[in-house]
Amino acid sequence: MRRPRRNRKSEAIRSLVQEHEVTVNDLVFPLFIMEGKNVRSEVASMPRIYRFSPDTLLQEIEICMKLGIKAFALFPNIADSKKDKFATESYNEKGLYLETIRSIKSKFPEACLITDVAMDPYSSEGHDGIVQDGKILNDETLEVLGKMALAQAEAGADIVGPSDMMDGRVGYLRDVLDAEGFSEVSIMSYTAKYASAFYGPFRDALNSAPKSGDKKTYQMDPANQAEALIEAELDFSEGADFLMVKPALAYLDVIKLLYDNFEVPIAAYNVSGEYAMVKAAAEKGWIDGEKAMVESLTSIKRAGAKIILSYFAKEFAILKS
Ligand code: PBG
Repeated sequence: MRRPRRNRKSEAIRSLVQEHEVTVNDLVFPLFIMEGKNVRSEVASMPRIYRFSPDTLLQEIEICMKLGIKAFALFPNIADSKKDKFATESYNEKGLYLETIRSIKSKFPEACLITDVAMDPYSSEGHDGIVQDGKILNDETLEVLGKMALAQAEAGADIVGPSDMMDGRVGYLRDVLDAEGFSEVSIMSYTAKYASAFYGPFRDALNSAPKSGDKKTYQMDPANQAEALIEAELDFSEGADFLMVKPALAYLDVIKLLYDNFEVPIAAYNVSGEYAMVKAAAEKGWIDGEKAMVESLTSIKRAGAKIILSYFAKEFAILKS
């Protein structure tokens, strides 16, 4: 009789047959930046995740680097007074985001910084594109994204991460970056980004929720899988270095689909709502949060994501240290 349980009979054998293991090398830690000095402001819906002022952010990055985390995805919390219809603050060289990137890069040149290319944190409408008569304009938005990505590259971004789901953005950004001498700056495209309820805590953190309507005319319908292949083919042919699926846990099939069909590394974003659910249940004593964290990250890797953006990155690194 074939008895699969023989391969599970001891810890030693289980570790021999273990197929996938997450390491700190796989993880990217998303960090929120806000104005101020000496501030660490906890996000209410994300226990132990903070918005950092530039000075405390540098301290946090130093701690994370000592734990072995080498890559960070940065997101700015912009004051309402600086937001406008065209997200002009996004390419203000003296603005919070670009200044902070410059200072991180001068202190920690070896850190890999992934910047966010999208209008929503800077948009008075809370949308990822220019809004006109209730519609999100595509090609006009690309011009803003181009200026933003270029400014980020100039500030020292290693990888730019277009997270807006406008059509043609990867090719547009690649052309702008190449034309301006930034052919070494990589593009991690949010390829299959779904119109998801799991982004709620992130929008709280950045105060970036749409003022009207929703994001369904640009982000994907959670019901669709084949459409992710169209997005992936476009991003790949336009020159993306990484293809990302977002969220992660409810979309493991999409991660696997892209992994099976494309040779570039697949990334997955274990988003704010996925983090919040584990934390909330663990706080109530309903699940073991640490085990749920490791199981979630392992599932994402098993599905085919080599790179995992996760708010658990630091906690995982502490666990493994
Ligand atoms: C927007 C953006 C979002 C996230 C990253 N970039 C939210 C949205 O589309 O509204 C979500 C990340 C998370 O929930 O952790 N450009």
